[in-house]
Amino acid sequence: MTHTIYDQHAEFYISFIQNVSTNRAFLLTIQTILAELGDLDGLEICDLACGEGVLSRILAAQGAQMSGFDLSSRLIDHARKNSDPTIAFAVNDAQTLVGVPNSTFDVVVCHMAIMDIPNIDALFATTKRILKPNGRFVLTVLHPCFETPFKAPKGIVETDENGAFVACRVMNYKEEGLWNSGGVGVRGHMGAYHRKLSTYMNALVSSGFTLYKLAEPMLTNDNYESMHDQWEMKIPRRLTIFCTA
Ligand SMILES: C[S@@+](CC[C@H](N)C(=O)[O-])C[C@H]1O[C@@H](n2cnc3c(N)ncnc32)[C@H](O)[C@@H]1O
Repeated sequence: MTHTIYDQHAEFYISFIQNVSTNRAFLLTIQTILAELGDLDGLEICDLACGEGVLSRILAAQGAQMSGFDLSSRLIDHARKNSDPTIAFAVNDAQTLVGVPNSTFDVVVCHMAIMDIPNIDALFATTKRILKPNGRFVLTVLHPCFETPFKAPKGIVETDENGAFVACRVMNYKEEGLWNSGGVGVRGHMGAYHRKLSTYMNALVSSGFTLYKLAEPMLTNDNYESMHDQWEMKIPRRLTIFCTA
């Protein structure tokens, strides 16, 4: 069995998700997705590149019939052990999903994972294939305009002498491809594929999707807990794209 980079860093990623899943910005993104999708009761939903299953569990709790696919066998093992047994988790490559029949799902979600996947044309063609006609595709990515390739320790954030957020540097927007921050976070462990906004949009349109909404969730009050919250009150760090097949 091939060991992916997420297999190599599975403990790190599981502990990262345990911390992040109570984070205000994470919850805001999930609420944005749930609000737009509406009633999920009985819908067949695919969580593409589901990791350890955090979003599958949230959507299952809303009544969806969940299937989660991921390339990392360690994360899939963890997902199975820590989720309701009605959720069907399997190791599979999101770029092909061999064995998954055409027109299976009402909704496909792909949350914060496309930056880990090299071939987005293959991913979108596969997504289109497994969706029912007019099925919905919800894609959340690191915001391609504001989370561009950077290097630790300097990072992309400027703070003042009190550690308060001042600005976010946008660097190397034009340079598409795999980068690694060299830091201690997810993108220091796994790297990420950076793509321009136009690359994402044009690839979706070329794959036959119709975009119907973009969301850039941002925290709205000053009841912040960290510098990251101040950052997320001013600049979106995630972009959610809603399309139909
Ligand atoms: C940043 S994690 C996001 C996981 C999950 N969606 C979440 O929100 O926690 C990226 C995931 O993409 C998975 N991945 C990377 N390449 C993949 C591929 N070709 N097919 C399926 N999953 C893949 C990794 O194993 C990892 O679980």
